[in-house]
Amino acid sequence: MSASKLPGPSGLPLIGNLLQLRGTDLWLKFVTWTQQYGPLFFLNAGGKPTIVIGDHKVAIDLLEERGGLYSGRPSNITVNEYMTRGLVFGFAPDNDLWKRLRTSAIEALNNEMSKEFPKYQNIEAVLLVRDLLKTPESYIAHVTRAVDSSLLSMIYGLPPSSESSPTYITISTIASTFLRTAAQRSLVDYFPVLNYIPASLSSWKRFAEKVYTKSDDLFERLYKDVEKQTEAGNIIPSVSTSLVRDPVHKDLTPKEKAWLAGTLFVAGSQTTSRQMQWFIPTIALHPDIQVKAQKQLDDVVGRERMPNLNDYEKLPYVQALVKEILRWRDVAPFGVPHSVSDVKNDVYEGHIVPKGSDCIVNVWGLNHDKTVYGPDADSFNPERYLNEQGQIQIIASRETKGQGHCSFGFGRRYCAGPGVAINNLFVQMACILWSFNVGPEIDENGNPIPIDVTQVVDDRLTMYPLRTNCCKFTPRFAGVEEIIKKTLEASGLGY
Ligand code: HEM
Repeated sequence: MSASKLPGPSGLPLIGNLLQLRGTDLWLKFVTWTQQYGPLFFLNAGGKPTIVIGDHKVAIDLLEERGGLYSGRPSNITVNEYMTRGLVFGFAPDNDLWKRLRTSAIEALNNEMSKEFPKYQNIEAVLLVRDLLKTPESYIAHVTRAVDSSLLSMIYGLPPSSESSPTYITISTIASTFLRTAAQRSLVDYFPVLNYIPASLSSWKRFAEKVYTKSDDLFERLYKDVEKQTEAGNIIPSVSTSLVRDPVHKDLTPKEKAWLAGTLFVAGSQTTSRQMQWFIPTIALHPDIQVKAQKQLDDVVGRERMPNLNDYEKLPYVQALVKEILRWRDVAPFGVPHSVSDVKNDVYEGHIVPKGSDCIVNVWGLNHDKTVYGPDADSFNPERYLNEQGQIQIIASRETKGQGHCSFGFGRRYCAGPGVAINNLFVQMACILWSFNVGPEIDENGNPIPIDVTQVVDDRLTMYPLRTNCCKFTPRFAGVEEIIKKTLEASGLGY
């Protein structure tokens, strides 16, 4: 029997389904289409063949089992050719450079030296609760600073950065520019002929080239600083120190190493801090869950010191909270799209998968699948990850690489830094819950100001709460501030 076309919603001539792909909550529309057309359906996104995966089985069959064919990235000429020149491997096609950069990145994030990284993460979590105590209304700025500063320490060995540090400001701006541009295809991706117009007549090319130069200057400067410091015998544990010193990275040029380091910041910053942006209002809406987590923190850590990453194994409730926030409100509801090899069409279960298609997994749909997570899949319930003894149990372990959710992606493109992300989320959540009861702010009439996590910003790559909710951080006991102060002083930092 010959293979047939994939099913999918019908669209208009030329633009196909493009108009149906507008609006927010597209992940819910994809759940409906999965029910209607099956777990693998086809869309024509303005002339771009696109396949959408709606269940775990198809995701494993294609992205894991046939990884050689399904590990590309959709073309984005502005980002890949001009803004990053293919050096940010998270956006790059599955070529030799991607392989070399990815292999080195994973090595540098998991080698002997990386065992020192939790120290940076611990201290940033303490700085975070200090900042929340002082100016709770700026909680989004505080989690963003804490995440970004911990990344700057892990990647370059830098001491904690303040919000006004020029390096912090420049690298955060570069990261958001890359991500914003990568999230949307631009006209040149639909009409490649535009790529022949010279930069003098194309404002998008000039802008992208300017961003490249600025990024290249910063990434090279930060990397060279580590190189000089290491050559002078001052070894500060970091990804860049490892890239400078360890022979295993010898296949990369200094420029590639500098961009690899920059890539890790770009990939790890907004993903993690936006996940914390979900956690804070969510926990404020669930006082019962806070009480349970705090009981475990009191039993294991006590009230004489703050929690840190050495407590990880003994705090399964906090581990479960990390898993549940990643599952319930994953910051990337479609992960990062893959693309299908453009060499030849593939055939899956009797259907043709057109070569060169973009490949989207509806990660939201998989993470909220009631056949996997049960009838309460739409509720925030960390206890789904705990067994009767209160120890971690993993749901759908094989399908989720042992995470219990699909929020770190699939196959050969699987997130390069899940350990760093999980540790950051864990220690920041543990320190917040140890220090505070988090709840809604109270207005002048004594009424709680409603917290709204139903409206979201969806920039097509990440998704986060629309509102800065008014959350109140009430210290849980009299000694909180003093212990935060002492912990910082013991690390040589001021309060
Ligand atoms: C909550 C935090 C994070 C989430 C939810 C997350 C999620 C993801 C996802 C969904 C992908 C794409 C996977 C795929 O294509 O199938 C990805 C890729 C990637 N992530 Fe993460 N990530 C997080 C934090 C981090 C951190 C902290 C780092 C590094 C320190 C990092 C480094 C990367 C890199 C380099 C890639 C590109 C991999 C490639 O294309 O080969 N991520 N991440």
